[in-house]
Amino acid sequence: MIQDTFGRVHDYLRISLTDVCNFRCFYCMPEEEYDFTPSSRLMQADEIRSLAGIFVDLGVKKIRLTGGEPLVRKDAGKIILSLSELPVLLTLTTNGTRLHHFVPVLQQAGIRSVNISLDTLNAKKFVDITRRDQFMEVMDNVDLLIRNNFHVKINVVVTRGLNELEIKDFVEWTRNVPVHIRFIEFMPFNGNRWSSDQVFTWQEILDLISQHYQFDRLDDELHATAKKYQIPGHQGTFAVISTMSAPFCGTCNRMRLTADGKMKNCLFSKNEMDLLTALRKGDDIVPLVRECVGRKEAALGGQLTPQYQKLQPDFIRNRSMITIGG
Ligand code: 5AD
Ligand code: SF4
Repeated sequence: MIQDTFGRVHDYLRISLTDVCNFRCFYCMPEEEYDFTPSSRLMQADEIRSLAGIFVDLGVKKIRLTGGEPLVRKDAGKIILSLSELPVLLTLTTNGTRLHHFVPVLQQAGIRSVNISLDTLNAKKFVDITRRDQFMEVMDNVDLLIRNNFHVKINVVVTRGLNELEIKDFVEWTRNVPVHIRFIEFMPFNGNRWSSDQVFTWQEILDLISQHYQFDRLDDELHATAKKYQIPGHQGTFAVISTMSAPFCGTCNRMRLTADGKMKNCLFSKNEMDLLTALRKGDDIVPLVRECVGRKEAALGGQLTPQYQKLQPDFIRNRSMITIGG
């Protein structure tokens, strides 16, 4: 069991397979030109399997693969299948563009639930956000997964002035389609030009939806980051991830491994633990994992003030989201 000094048991690991992405979403990529990590510095497939196995031996029950875009990695299928041999719940967060190549692999690996990032239902706005003209590919793949009975969650980063007026359209989508929308408050990361007035809060999201619908709160799962809701009679659900206005660090069970093999104890942690170099030297990984979690702060990496309005993003020391892996 991996426990931090606050008694939180850590049994969920998010592994980034690559910092490469075929999109250029502004909230994720740094503003300046960005060099992707050379592949020799990335964890190789067997190294990912070894590190994941160590975490599972320490009590990890759930692994989510992230990126960058995990499915642009050439050996993504091989990695997914090798991790599926571990006794864990395996899931994936993807931008959806390459899912049609992976349906059989996901099925074979026993992956039942997939998170797809999609911030707009408007093809033109999609290009503004991602800098790529692939809206239809993503929508087709959402359909494809639903038709194949996957549990599909849609991650929508809500940014004031950009897509908050689409919240209603996303919610309407849940009427006849079993799709699970998750509205995520815009978070600050290196180089993403975050400002507090762009955060469209949980409360604002609910207020906006309540102008059009009546909805019920669903029960939270243990360690849930999302507050879930359903409109009576709708097939899908919606949820809000309120990292900025109402952080949920008290029940956090998450650890992260970046694509270059650094462990982070929090999305907003300043410090990292270099597990890949240790693994390559043949060192014991277990004490490093424990030390890293032992240093975990109570909330938000100790860097973000509880009042997000007072945050000064320039003083936050972290990576950009694309190099952390959602
Ligand atoms: N704020 C909020 N969510 C973000 N994501 C990426 N960057 C940000 C940000 N700055 C989301 C993506 C992805 C998930 C892993 O994290 O939408 O779906
Ligand atoms: Fe790529 Fe996802 Fe980052 Fe967009 S948010 S650039 S899709 S990794």
